[in-house]
Amino acid sequence: PLMLLLWAMLGYLLGSIPFGIVITRAMGLGNLREIGSGNIGTTNVLRTGSKGAALATLVLDGAKGAVAALLARAMAGEDAAQIAGLMAFAGHCFPVWLGFRGGKGVATFLGLLLALAWPVGIAACATWLVTALIARISSLSALMAAALAPVWIMVLGHGEMLILSLILGGIIFWRHKDNIARLRAGTEPKIGKK
Ligand code: G3P
Repeated sequence: PLMLLLWAMLGYLLGSIPFGIVITRAMGLGNLREIGSGNIGTTNVLRTGSKGAALATLVLDGAKGAVAALLARAMAGEDAAQIAGLMAFAGHCFPVWLGFRGGKGVATFLGLLLALAWPVGIAACATWLVTALIARISSLSALMAAALAPVWIMVLGHGEMLILSLILGGIIFWRHKDNIARLRAGTEPKIGKK
């Protein structure tokens, strides 16, 4: 249990690094909180106009979930890996450094799925991508990926990931409540637009 607590803390610390804010500040791209949705994730970083900054945010926000989970798995096994992944996700959504006002968790979710059960990760990324290609809306793509992840988990034989994916998917939906309201009103912007 002490071991699990340690991995929970390490996962949280890693996950709570807000790469979107770090990168846009370092590149002098302005205050992310005053741009677009005000969110700290890839989609909003893209609204600064910098594709490079957006890509770096995507990769690093994904990697922090993956690294937390893989480190924990290598050193303490499967339970620790899931807890570290869950807490990295929580760290991204609720970082102590930003008064617990963090991101929506999508990149970190995809990163930790890729790390813990790569076929599921690939299926979830493909779900995001196909929805994005059709609808060109980031939040809708994220909601589809989160909603279908439990289905891919069962289809691809990774039942050990089911509870984790339901918890994370639930938080993703909750974090997207403003987006869901805009989607219903037909006012959610397309990818790359303000
Ligand atoms: O990953 C977040 C994305 O799904 C929505 O971002 O900035 O449009 O609220 P945003």
